Amino acid sequence: MSIPVLTDYSPSYFNGRRVLVRVDYNVPLQKRGEKWLIGDDSRIRSSLDTLSYLVSSKARVILLSHLGKPISLAPVAQKLNELAFGLIGYKRKVKFCPKIVGKEVKGWVKDLEKGDILLLENLRLEKGEEKNDPIFAKRLAKLADFYVNDAFSCSHRRHASIVGIPRILPHAVGSGFEKDIKTLKNILEHSQRPVVLVLGGIKEDKLKTARKMVKWVDKILVGGTLVKSSPPKAGQAPLKVQSSKKIILGKLRRDGQDISKTTIKRFIEEIKKAGTVIFAGPIGNTGAGIFTGTKRLFEAAIESDAFVLAGGGDTQSALTRLGLADNMNYIVSGGGAMLSFLADGTLPGIEALRN
Ligand code: 3PG
Repeated sequence: MSIPVLTDYSPSYFNGRRVLVRVDYNVPLQKRGEKWLIGDDSRIRSSLDTLSYLVSSKARVILLSHLGKPISLAPVAQKLNELAFGLIGYKRKVKFCPKIVGKEVKGWVKDLEKGDILLLENLRLEKGEEKNDPIFAKRLAKLADFYVNDAFSCSHRRHASIVGIPRILPHAVGSGFEKDIKTLKNILEHSQRPVVLVLGGIKEDKLKTARKMVKWVDKILVGGTLVKSSPPKAGQAPLKVQSSKKIILGKLRRDGQDISKTTIKRFIEEIKKAGTVIFAGPIGNTGAGIFTGTKRLFEAAIESDAFVLAGGGDTQSALTRLGLADNMNYIVSGGGAMLSFLADGTLPGIEALRN
C-alpha cells in the first residue's frame, strides 16, 4: 500500500481543519551574547511548500519539532516568521507556544484562526516523545483533526510524534518528505554502480546502519570521528565496523580533526570510479572549522561523472558553507534516516503511515 501524500487531499478538505505538521527544525543554534543565532536554515526553508499549501487551504496549522539540544524553539519561530514572510508571502506572525501539551496549549489551539501557524515547544523536553508514550501521542493528537509528517529526517526514530500520532489521526506526508522518498527509491532501484558511501559526522548509530548496507553498496569510506569509534575499546562489545575489502576505515591526521592526506588520496581514487556517491556526514571536524578532507571529497565527487547524493543537517551546512550545495544532484534532509531507508527500504515513520 502506498502512503498518502498531502496533495491527495484538495485544499477545500483542509478549510478550517486543525492540522498537526511534524517538521524537523533541528537546526544548528549558537549563542551570541543573549541571542541564539541559526547557522543553516535549510530545514526551515524546506518546510515552506507544505506550509504554503496548508495556509492557502485555510487550515489551522500546528507545528511540532524537536531540537537536539534541550533548549527552546523560540528562536526558530522567529526565523520561520522571517522566511515565511519573505518566501511564501505569509503576512501574519507565526505564533509560538512555550509548552507542548496541557491547558495552555489547548488555549493557543482554540484561538487559532483559519490560515494561522502555531509552533509548539521542543518535543524532546517531554519524556513521552522519545519513549513513544501512547498517552503523550494521544494528547498531541487530540489537538488536531489531521496529521502531516514532513520530517523524513526524523522518521527512523520510533518517537511519539513520528509513529504514535499517525496511528490515531488521518494522515499524509508533506512535500519535502515525498521528494526525499522518491529520490531514495530511485537510488535503491536504479543506482549506477559502483555505489560509494562516504560516512562521516558524529552520530555513531550510523555505523550500525552502515553495516547493514554492506550487501547493497560497493564501497564504504569511513572518516571523521566515526574512525575513532570503530576500533573496539578494551572490554567493549564486538567491533561495530571493521576494515574489509568493502569498508575502508580512514586514517586520521595527528590532531584527530580530519583524515590524513594519504586517506584523502585513497578515498578520491574510489570516488573517481563511482557511478553513485552518497555522503552521510562531513568527513572532518567541520564544527571546529576543519574543512580540508570534506571539501576535497565533495569536489572529487562533483568533478566525477557520478550521481552525487548528500544527506543530513551537518552535511548540508558544510556544503552551504563551502558554496557547493547547488552542485549536488540531491540533498536528503537527514543522514541517519537516509541510511536507514537505504538499508531497510522503509522507516518506522513510513510504516506508521501505511497502517
Ligand atoms: C537529524 O538531525 O538528523 C534529525 O533531526 C534527527 O535528529 P536525531 O538524530 O537527534 O534524532
